[in-house]
Amino acid sequence: MFENFNVPQELIPTDPRFGVGPSLVPVEFMQRLAETKTELLGTSHRKPAIKNLVKEVQEGLKKYFNLPEGYEVVIGNGGATFLFDMIGLGLVNKSSAHFTTGEFSTKWYKSHNKIPWINAENISVEYGHGINPKDMDGHDMICCTLNETSTAVMVNELPDLRNTDKLLAIDATSGAGQIPVDFNKVDLYFFSPQKVFASEGGTFIAIMSPKALDRAKANYDRDSYIPEIMSWKLAIDNSLKNQTYNTPSVSTLFFLNEQVKLMNELGECKVVDMAKEKANYIYDWANSKDYLACYVEDEAFRSIAVATINVDDKYPVPDLTKRLRDLGVIYDIDSYRKLGKNQFRISLFHNVTLENLKKLTRIIDLAIESV
Ligand SMILES: Cc1ncc(COP(=O)(O)O)c(C=O)c1O
Repeated sequence: MFENFNVPQELIPTDPRFGVGPSLVPVEFMQRLAETKTELLGTSHRKPAIKNLVKEVQEGLKKYFNLPEGYEVVIGNGGATFLFDMIGLGLVNKSSAHFTTGEFSTKWYKSHNKIPWINAENISVEYGHGINPKDMDGHDMICCTLNETSTAVMVNELPDLRNTDKLLAIDATSGAGQIPVDFNKVDLYFFSPQKVFASEGGTFIAIMSPKALDRAKANYDRDSYIPEIMSWKLAIDNSLKNQTYNTPSVSTLFFLNEQVKLMNELGECKVVDMAKEKANYIYDWANSKDYLACYVEDEAFRSIAVATINVDDKYPVPDLTKRLRDLGVIYDIDSYRKLGKNQFRISLFHNVTLENLKKLTRIIDLAIESV
């Protein structure tokens, strides 16, 4: 189906990239990077040019998130998946509780569960449903995923663990920057920058509270063997000097910095408002069509960063997404590969404009309604 569908010229979006990861890197950022010529790429990350870039990213994120006193922005290589293991190895004392709502949160739980000295508990809900993390006795870390990218379920309330010795750890990979949290309650907030922050993969950003920094230091002296590349102490010590433990991807840091600057010009409140406006538009659209439905039924858990929209089985989504990709008009709105749903998964990230989302929905309507 859809192999003969064509898109009218006036509906072609200005950018075809609607994927949730990697997300679109603005072409202007690439041009700006090219303009730096010999100043950044191919120069030492231990020298001022790159150290200043790292510092600008760290300070930009502190400003954007309005981080409380004593919080640090730690940057390193490996991305969020690398951190799943690094957190289990270096920041959990004995036991972590995981509130899981999809593939990524489950992956994190599984990483901890493989570590011989850790007891990991999985508190899960059926995919498409949400659950907020809660304080749990017997665990020294509570883990949740701010925006479960596979299902588009978000967390909307956090427990207050400040008067306990537990850490609240949040994988914020696809929600960071767009789904607000009260950082006073958060000890570890980490993400890869290839989502809302419009950069590339392979780098991690871990925002750590004083409590998490203390835990990292204390655990470094434990007897258990931890590979040096996964050492929190080395990651933190280097970040305090605006460096990374090993060589970083300079272009990734550059794009990240451009996006942080762009978002700081608006401020977090405005960015969040824009996200909500796009989410309302997409979910209203899904509710208005009898061949579409919101996958996440409970509105309180419906993501404002990623939207999952079920489609009547009469209209095979893979056929339509293939045709739109072949036409070069829309990329990467397929459902998460392991979810196996006849579904669109659409990025609502900051750089995806409402105007382009409106074109996208009109294209889908046209395709389906002309069958
Ligand atoms: C919520 C979440 N966590 C973790 C990851 C893994 O990130 P990375 O591929 O950068 O390791 C992803 C990637 O999409 C994600 O969406």
